[in-house]
Amino acid sequence: MQHRKKEYIKSPLNYTGGKYKLLSQIEPLFPKKIDTFVDLFAGGCNVAINAKANKVVANDINSEIIQLYDYFSSNNSDKVISKVDSIICKYGLSDTSKYGYVHYSCTSNSGVSKYNKEAYSKLRSDYNKNKTPLLFYVTLVFAFNNQIRFNSRGEFNTPVNKRDFNKNMRKNLKLFIDELNQKEIRFYSDDFNNIEIDDNSFVYIDPPYLATIASYNENGGWNEDKEMELLSYIDGLNKRGIKFSLSNVFENKGKSNNILREWSADYNVHSLNFSYNNCNYQSKDKTKNTTSEILITNY
Ligand SMILES: C[S@@+](CC[C@H](N)C(=O)[O-])C[C@H]1O[C@@H](n2cnc3c(N)ncnc32)[C@H](O)[C@@H]1O
Repeated sequence: MQHRKKEYIKSPLNYTGGKYKLLSQIEPLFPKKIDTFVDLFAGGCNVAINAKANKVVANDINSEIIQLYDYFSSNNSDKVISKVDSIICKYGLSDTSKYGYVHYSCTSNSGVSKYNKEAYSKLRSDYNKNKTPLLFYVTLVFAFNNQIRFNSRGEFNTPVNKRDFNKNMRKNLKLFIDELNQKEIRFYSDDFNNIEIDDNSFVYIDPPYLATIASYNENGGWNEDKEMELLSYIDGLNKRGIKFSLSNVFENKGKSNNILREWSADYNVHSLNFSYNNCNYQSKDKTKNTTSEILITNY
């Protein structure tokens, strides 16, 4: 039976490369019984939060997001939401869920970016001086398309958003925190190589894709060397008899990943029905930006 989207919890972060929309196709391909589910490149945490297993381990090299999940998991949703509201109020940022758009002399179409520009700039600069998880989340809410982007000096530099802490974001945040509060999930922030994998684990691997662009691929974040390192790491898991699933694409906008293609010959390749047309990938010409997602497994 096909799972419906709304059965899954959505990440509160609008994460580039997030697998929320693919979960209904990926999850049925996971092993039926999992003791420890390891989400090695957790990103927006869309997969880990929905994992069905006795224990869940979620890792990402980005320590800001991992600290944020740790903060969420040790606080209840009402408390977090009320703290977010106090920060919004303190900085004089808009609250369209309470006052609507007219109150801020704009329409839903034009959005609140003009109104929030100055206050957002102050918030972002305060966050850059004092990087707490809560300030990170509020800054992200008011950041353009909720995109996480740091410059080479490690400063968050996404410009202001059209939207604010609207009903949808509130709902996603609440459901996510409520689920985190009742799940046995441990967070780590390290390079994938340094995560200890028990023999009874299933490992889900969703690395940056060589063939696509994302801010976490910038500044030498992911390259051919990293790709090869990961593939031989996965061969190592396979030799230990550990089941894995690897998300990726063979091709994007004419750019082919031949390293991956050749390597995958020893495993099972499942083609998924998805195109990044639906997603937030940066492209002016959305019609040409089609990417076929695959899932490579050893079982
Ligand atoms: C495609 S995203 C994961 C998206 C996630 N599955 C979701 O559904 O939200 C890839 C992630 O890999 C992380 N990453 C990049 N290099 C890494 C490394 N060497 N070790 C661990 N994580 C890494 C990035 O920070 C990014 O969050």
